[in-house]
Amino acid sequence: MKEFDLVIIGGGPAGYVSAIRAAQLKMKVAIVEKRATLGGTCLNVGCIPSKALLDSSEHYENALKNFSAHGISVKDVKIDVAQMVARKDKVVSEVTSGVDFLMKKNKIERFLGTASLQSATEVLVADASGKAIDTLKAKKIIIATGSVPVELPTVPVDGVTVITSDHALSLTKVPKHLIVIGAGVIGLELGSVWRRLGAKVTIVEFLPRLFPSCDRQMANLAQRLYEQQGLEFLFEHKVEKAVTSTAGSAALTAGLSDRTSTPLSDRKAVVTVKTPTGETKTLEGDVVLCAIGRKPLTEGLGLDKVGIKLTERGRIAVDFHSYQTNVPNIFAIGDVIDGPMLAHKAMEEGVAAVEVMAGQAGHVNYGAIPGIVYTHPEVAWVGMGEEELKEKGIEYKVGRSFFKPNGRAKAMMEGDGQLKLLSDKKTDRLLGAFIVGARASELIAELTLAMEFGASAEDVARTCHAHPTLSEIIKDAAENNGGWAIHQ
Ligand code: FAD
Ligand code: NAI
Repeated sequence: MKEFDLVIIGGGPAGYVSAIRAAQLKMKVAIVEKRATLGGTCLNVGCIPSKALLDSSEHYENALKNFSAHGISVKDVKIDVAQMVARKDKVVSEVTSGVDFLMKKNKIERFLGTASLQSATEVLVADASGKAIDTLKAKKIIIATGSVPVELPTVPVDGVTVITSDHALSLTKVPKHLIVIGAGVIGLELGSVWRRLGAKVTIVEFLPRLFPSCDRQMANLAQRLYEQQGLEFLFEHKVEKAVTSTAGSAALTAGLSDRTSTPLSDRKAVVTVKTPTGETKTLEGDVVLCAIGRKPLTEGLGLDKVGIKLTERGRIAVDFHSYQTNVPNIFAIGDVIDGPMLAHKAMEEGVAAVEVMAGQAGHVNYGAIPGIVYTHPEVAWVGMGEEELKEKGIEYKVGRSFFKPNGRAKAMMEGDGQLKLLSDKKTDRLLGAFIVGARASELIAELTLAMEFGASAEDVARTCHAHPTLSEIIKDAAENNGGWAIHQ
């Protein structure tokens, strides 16, 4: 039996980052991952492949719609989806092999197989057929097994006509009509990819609005811009079922095909929804993307065997300082525990958990974790929005700015968007920042740092921002918060 100071189950952002930090802190570390490649959901079927397709499809849409305004004419702009997907696969392969390199560099032993807990100090590794191939003895164990898509029993996923994000990243033909269930981050990002490539996209959402944890006014602004682009939303609609059937005519066949462009099926999907007034309506599409959230992956881990407790929502219960479960030498981090299911949150927890184990002062500030939707325009936020501040009875000041008057935004033809800063009415300390606009994903970093440092809106306003940059929009909002915006 091989012995380790720390055995980590799961090689996603939570697992591989904690492995590296533990090795840096002189622990003897093993990581067990059942996928052939490391990097978890994020690198294989999440953050990276979705961004690769978002970038490709944005180039395509720009070539179609915006190049001519720059004086660039391109004839016969065509889309080769198979090449787009192949480029995405290459990006994935490069980033996942980067993680392999980091494992070797840090002398972390990698085991390929499915792990389960034999006892509080033993991890069994089995191959794909379930045959035990290794038993690892561990002083400490981290569970970082992540999450998988939630499925609706009445909307059975077949991977062809009814799909999850895993499949939506590898379509090789553009669907004619993509019906997305769930107007969350996946629905918006992957819905945008296929809309840009020519699909009609209808998004059915249970709630009356987008992005519940984002400031409502800013989420509404994003919604208006998405609608202008052609995304169709059905809010307050409940999906009851989806039925796939063989289409009567070739016109109804799915745009899906295998990599050789041979149609895989002649199917269509009929989605039954209940409208806000209680009527039943059907929608017909050729592909249905079910994107209604993700659930923690704990099945088969043997949690019962060692008595690990779960929260009411089925995630592993931990102490949010040490990431210890109720079994003292077993820890859990990432999507499998409470909190937003985000790669950067998982990575921060990976570092903090291991540092605390090593007697250091690891810490995650859950009040300053940015959330980003990588559509165009991007939507990014950190901290609390107006609704949450009101709910908590915190008095606040608002500072606003617009992308339109910003010189750099004008030069880039990126005039759509706004920025909103919220600060404490008495102390001026920043409490929240919300951006809808180009490069919001990069701009939010300044405001996240400001919040980490406990900065006031005035601190941001009096910081010299380079001209001409989009970051001046941040300074404008901070000045506006103090009542003296120069450029707006
Ligand atoms: P995971 O990344 O899910 O990794 C867990 C790993 O554990 C998996 O590789 C799994 O195979 C392995 N595993 C599970 N059980 C076992 C077992 N018993 N034995 C061995 N191995 C096991 N987040 C962002 O922050 N930004 C984004 O842009 C973003 N985009 C996303 C886009 C999509 C389409 C999706 C689906 C998700 C996206 N996310 C994004 C979310 C992000 O991917 C997750 O929050 C993140 O991957 C969680 O990391 P994790 O390490 O906790 O889990
Ligand atoms: P989500 O939680 O973001 O959105 C799911 C949406 O589906 C919600 O708006 C919900 O109200 C709706 N919904 C649930 N059940 C429904 C039903 N029966 N009918 C209609 N609507 C229904 O989940 P999503 O988009 O699946 O993403 C999963 C996770 O992955 C998220 O937690 C997210 O944080 C992460 N992710 C992050 C990204 C990023 O950071 N850019 C990108 C993609 C995913």
